[in-house]
Amino acid sequence: MSKTFFITGGAGFIGSHTCRYILNSIQNPKIVVLDNFARYQDPFDQENTNFYDLRFKDIRKNICFERGDAQNFSIVYDCLKKYKPNFIIHLAAVPVAKTNNLNSFEMKAGSIDTTSCLIEVCAKLIKEKKP
Ligand SMILES: NC(=O)c1ccc[n+]([C@@H]2O[C@H](COP(=O)([O-])OP(=O)(O)OC[C@H]3O[C@@H](n4cnc5c(N)ncnc54)[C@H](O)[C@@H]3O)[C@@H](O)[C@H]2O)c1
Repeated sequence: MSKTFFITGGAGFIGSHTCRYILNSIQNPKIVVLDNFARYQDPFDQENTNFYDLRFKDIRKNICFERGDAQNFSIVYDCLKKYKPNFIIHLAAVPVAKTNNLNSFEMKAGSIDTTSCLIEVCAKLIKEKKP
């Protein structure tokens, strides 16, 4: 039976490699990426790289992209209800190497609040499943 992977922040650097790895190593996987694409384009990047094309050009047809904020309870809840993933890989974050030390509130929201949200949603779904 095919396995479903739900990857928050899956459009990022590590997420895109994770998608590729799953596609290359697991038979017929279903991959759902939840990403807000908010930091996708570095405004100071003079070359204005099209990361989406660069990372997903040849594999985007195999991935279902959901655009949304992983801090948002309803968005995460709806995604998990809809796709019923077997695995959750949580990568949504504003990584340390980028703006962490420049904007600690954004870092907290990106990293800690998304994690709390995911835990809360999973707890609710487990509760709902119990008879
Ligand atoms: N790149 C590294 O070398 C490295 C090393 C160790 C740990 N990590 C960790 O791995 C994770 C991913 O890192 P990366 O290098 O792929 O970063 P990245 O910036 O390339 O990817 C992060 C993705 O998360 C998305 N995102 C951010 N906030 C979001 C939100 N609220 N809702 C939905 N999507 C959101 C961004 O749009 C982006 O696509 C981070 O937690 C990072 O700290 C990275």
